[in-house]
Amino acid sequence: MEQEPNRVFSGIQPTADSIHLGNYHGAVQGMMALQETHACIYAVVDYHAITAPFDPALMPHRVLNIAVDYLAAGLDPERTILMVQSDVPEHVELAWLLGAQMPVPKFEQLPTYKDKRARYGSASFGLLAYAILMAADILIYKATTVPVGKDQLPHIEFTREVARCFNNAFGQTFPEPQAFQTAGTVVPSLQGPGAMAKSVPGSYITLTDPPEVIRQRLARAYTDPARMRRTDPGEPTRCNIYTIHQLYTPSKQLEEIAGGCRSASIGCLECKRILAHEIIVHLSPIQERHRALLADLDYVRYVLADGAHRARPLAQATLAEVKEKMGLTRSRTSEVHQA
Ligand code: TYM
Repeated sequence: MEQEPNRVFSGIQPTADSIHLGNYHGAVQGMMALQETHACIYAVVDYHAITAPFDPALMPHRVLNIAVDYLAAGLDPERTILMVQSDVPEHVELAWLLGAQMPVPKFEQLPTYKDKRARYGSASFGLLAYAILMAADILIYKATTVPVGKDQLPHIEFTREVARCFNNAFGQTFPEPQAFQTAGTVVPSLQGPGAMAKSVPGSYITLTDPPEVIRQRLARAYTDPARMRRTDPGEPTRCNIYTIHQLYTPSKQLEEIAGGCRSASIGCLECKRILAHEIIVHLSPIQERHRALLADLDYVRYVLADGAHRARPLAQATLAEVKEKMGLTRSRTSEVHQA
């Protein structure tokens, strides 16, 4: 495949019904911004979502919902390819070819693998191989830019190593992709220290949560632990709610909130009420588009089918090139040589 100088790839797992604000700020906003200047391919990565316990009955609905989230957030399907990973099975074939070149400890050292193994008490082969499928997702399109949140940086570094390893062994083939990070590269949890995550119930607000749910979730959210009483002065830089405020609230109001927190002239409830308002206003047009798309799922299915149709020839071209370089095609010369 000819290398497109400005190719972008990214993906989201269909492990929940809707993306949360971490996914949205950490990855999706970057993805949408890059559409303006780059050739982008964005995926619902269903083969990644089966590496941890999952419910097959929910999967088709979740895949469609994540596609709806992408479109509601501003993905332009005329310009950008939106696809489901399993519709382009070449990703898995490339993962096998690339994975065969990588030493096992490289996989075992990845923090996401270690965390999930600890969480589930054991690990499937899919969880161990997770990073090579992600590398294949990116490298099959020779993408140079990958919009992701901070938690994915070890996977991008691993992808760069995979590209180098292949290029050294079989000749220059893959660019070494770079992560593209936004201001919201770590959106904090509403529950305590750490990041907003689908796997931590109560830690997140989703793109489709109605205003009352947003208010409720924020009202219960964790703040600066030093602010036990309304009269205790707080430190905004230690507060998850203030970090989320920085993604929504205009800077003048933000300064007032920070000052009010430090002097205890505003309480956490007031601070959360302002944030809830800002989030609700920001999400309102996205939620409106979301509702319209849910009422026209045939259109969403059409976009995904069209996306797979456009992505597949690109993936097939890279796979053919890789197989050729690895001696896995029976060209005329190799047949003569064998005889
Ligand atoms: P996933 O589905 O877990 O998350 C999707 C994107 O959301 C980002 N993210 C966050 N960013 C900021 N703050 C948070 N609290 C937060 N939580 C999640 C993630 O960094 C991610 O960018 N392995 C990927 C999916 C994937 C992929 C790929 C991504 C598969 N193949 C190829 C890029 C390229 C994942 O688990 O995403």
